[in-house]
Amino acid sequence: MILQHLRRFSFTVVCLCICLSSCSPVSPIGERQRRKVNAGIPPDLQSQFVQPQRSKLGMAVSAHPLATEAGVAMLEDGGNAMDAAVATALAISVVEPFSAGIGGGGFLLLREAETGKIRALDFRERAPMAASRDMYLDDEGKVKSRASLDGHLAVGVPGTVAGLYELHREYGKLPWSAVVKPAIRLAQEGFELSDRFIRFTQRRRDVLLQNTAAKAIFTRQGQMYEPGDILVQKDLANTLKTISQDPESFYSGKVAWAIAQDMQQHGGLITLNDLINYEPIWRDPICGNFRDARICSMPPPSSGGVHLLQILNIIGETDLADLGWQNPDALHLMVESMRIAYADRAAHLGDPDFVEVPVRQLTSKEYAKQRREEIQMDRVRRSDEVTAVDEATLQRLQGESTNTTHLTIVDRDRNVVSMTFTINGGFGAGVVAAGTGIVLNNEMDDFAIAPGVPNLYGLVGDEANAIAPRKTPLSSMTPIIATRNGRFLMAAGSPGGSTIITTVLQIALNGIEYNMNAGAAVSAPRLHHQWLPDVLWLERGGFGADTVQSLKERGHNIEVRDGWGNANAIFVTEDGTIQGAADPRGEGTAIGL
Ligand code: GLY
Repeated sequence: MILQHLRRFSFTVVCLCICLSSCSPVSPIGERQRRKVNAGIPPDLQSQFVQPQRSKLGMAVSAHPLATEAGVAMLEDGGNAMDAAVATALAISVVEPFSAGIGGGGFLLLREAETGKIRALDFRERAPMAASRDMYLDDEGKVKSRASLDGHLAVGVPGTVAGLYELHREYGKLPWSAVVKPAIRLAQEGFELSDRFIRFTQRRRDVLLQNTAAKAIFTRQGQMYEPGDILVQKDLANTLKTISQDPESFYSGKVAWAIAQDMQQHGGLITLNDLINYEPIWRDPICGNFRDARICSMPPPSSGGVHLLQILNIIGETDLADLGWQNPDALHLMVESMRIAYADRAAHLGDPDFVEVPVRQLTSKEYAKQRREEIQMDRVRRSDEVTAVDEATLQRLQGESTNTTHLTIVDRDRNVVSMTFTINGGFGAGVVAAGTGIVLNNEMDDFAIAPGVPNLYGLVGDEANAIAPRKTPLSSMTPIIATRNGRFLMAAGSPGGSTIITTVLQIALNGIEYNMNAGAAVSAPRLHHQWLPDVLWLERGGFGADTVQSLKERGHNIEVRDGWGNANAIFVTEDGTIQGAADPRGEGTAIGL
């Protein structure tokens, strides 16, 4: 039950008497939607939503209280949102080693306060030079079980350190050593393990026990830790100290040598050359208009931005808020739009440096209108009836004009960072490079390891996302920054593999269409459809019986699931108040200046 689930996290700031229309008189939304605030959200559900933190000055939100503290300390010390983002991300590497860190990669969007410009940085993992298209297939062409998920062969060349250093090099105000310092302290002095941490270690117990370095850090001679135990990570503290003195050491110095050597000894592909050649890439964000907001997100090699905008375009002018909260027509339209978008994802999305990705066509209003006409409001189309856009249509549209974590930071000046980064599965490949304390990713599984073979998240892919040396695996990470009339309006993101796009979509709709505050927007129950498998997930306890019945009658194949995602968001209201909220499904926090 979502209610029980949310209650479990009641240590987060829960509003016991929330009445969103009165608690958030100034929402991020314009006049158009104000009359529709939260119409029909059951009061018992509303009462479980987190209350946003509020500040006029600045805000840090992340998936772990200690990482949020690290970020807000930078803001207090005169740093900007970029300094705070680096400190938060490095702290996450220490306190959430199962979700993201310096052994992985990610994407960030930032807004420059001075110019209002929004930029996107790709520091995603890349395939090693020795990677090949069929590297996870046996001699008979069958997929080798778990080869892209567990062990050294699953690891892509990590980009987090290069990405964070690039962010800091361009924008940082505080010294690099100052932004690395909180993470060093957390690794050196240790921190208390939460229930959530223990759940993740239990889930990956077998693979952690197989790797000597991982076993030495994340177990006590093979015995699993318990909630409340203190975890000290000496090797990681030393690695962070080295990075603090010389960030290049990760790619060409001491740390790089240790990673390359570990790879060589255990059949991994990453060489010193792979690390030396790693570079983060500044990309143009992908932006589109929805209502009176301009929403920007990550372009390929993430599929997030393309499909977020595609779904919003297909929803188009349909006034969801007017239909009412969780109206079955509104939900059906959202789900059918998701189905179309994920079909296109499987066929067309990949690394734009290797394949042509039809971004403009997929995000065009004309294409969305065409796909909208296919949707029948009284019945689902089975996913085998829904195909990706065909070549002829792509040609026609050609000339048209033109286990993961998220953190969101806003500073006094309204610099904004919205960053999603990951090591992919829980504890990545389950590999720690000996002597470094770095948990290495299993991002290679985000490639289509064979056409039609589902990845960790059940996503299928095709040629566009086939493995090639130095290619970037396709992602679903969807950090967003939205503005209205050039002013910052909201930033958000979430982990959750294939569900990231639809989670961020619903947070954006909750804010922009349903006029919720940041706390309600990240708390509200979610649904998800990803074309294949042809199943509609509804969050347990989050949808009324009549709504579920109406969706069933249209033919939706419903599966009720415990909550997913671990989002966070920052909204700014019309009077300039910053609202920050972390998902009650996780243990994150928002702290205002
Ligand atoms: N590893 C999950 C994603 O990038 O979408």
